[in-house]
Amino acid sequence: MKNKLAGKRLAVLGAGKIGGILLQAFLRHKLISPGQVRATVRHAEKARALGKSLRVSVTTDNRAAVEKADIILLCVKPQTVKDVLEEIRSTVTPRQLIISVAASVPTAYLEERLVDGVPVVRAMPNTPCAIGAGMTGLASGKHAKPGHLEIAQTLFDAAGRTVVVDEKLMDAVTGLSASGPAFIYILLESLAEAGVKVGLPRDIATLLAAQTMYGAARVVLETGEHPARLKDAVTTPAGCTIDGILELEDGKVRVTLIKAVVKATQRARELLFEG
Ligand SMILES: NC(=O)c1ccc[n+]([C@@H]2O[C@H](COP(=O)([O-])OP(=O)(O)OC[C@H]3O[C@@H](n4cnc5c(N)ncnc54)[C@H](OP(=O)(O)O)[C@@H]3O)[C@@H](O)[C@H]2O)c1
Repeated sequence: MKNKLAGKRLAVLGAGKIGGILLQAFLRHKLISPGQVRATVRHAEKARALGKSLRVSVTTDNRAAVEKADIILLCVKPQTVKDVLEEIRSTVTPRQLIISVAASVPTAYLEERLVDGVPVVRAMPNTPCAIGAGMTGLASGKHAKPGHLEIAQTLFDAAGRTVVVDEKLMDAVTGLSASGPAFIYILLESLAEAGVKVGLPRDIATLLAAQTMYGAARVVLETGEHPARLKDAVTTPAGCTIDGILELEDGKVRVTLIKAVVKATQRARELLFEG
């Protein structure tokens, strides 16, 4: 798989939070060498600082960055995508691959604003990509061939797991796994707070909460077992866990989480249309 990227040149347009995380993951896994990367940001002083810390070329010139690139990773905010596409339109050709991580922006929106035939893949990663534990949903645009999708998979696999979905599900991926870390941190913080309430020192409570979440998630991933069956295995008749579960149900934790993901998914459909 790695050979697919041998000698490829990468442009990262908008190397902010997620762009920076992804670029560092690709460099760490030696998928792309620093000399093959051209990144951009909006502010010149940020470009200088980022260039120094990542040891790659970072400028504010999107057109120059894409000129010799084989892969263009678009990581600007949804509302900035239109301006950036206008800037690079005359430079990008169908021999290049565009991978966009912008929430809310369909591949068709990008395709319409580029010359005909440019392959586009849409990706929706999350911040745990920073430690190789990310989750990225991928969807192909109309000109993207299987080889293009494979390139995107190779890149994002370096930052965690990937799943290919139909593009109509990308806003749902955004609402679940891209927004998800924020929801999980709130749950984790609450469990740690609960530990403090029942007498544990905060650092120990946070460790217990985080490792418990991590362990439970790993069991689901590694066994493929339904979470409800795994929950049942913890729940001794007339034991402590069932009392805790009763409180969770009384607090409508399930419906609250479902509503959080539904709202985030709906919001993902709106972002592009804001000025
Ligand atoms: N954060 C996440 O968890 C996450 C997850 C999945 C997808 N996304 C998507 O990733 C995109 C970026 O989100 P983010 O959280 O990384 O935001 P961010 O930290 O604000 O990054 C945006 C970057 O774009 C740069 N930029 C702005 N205008 C530009 C232009 N005209 N040309 C080149 N660069 C420009 C900014 O430069 P300056 O730093 O100089 O202002 C900044 O570095 C969004 O579309 C979002 O939907 C984010």
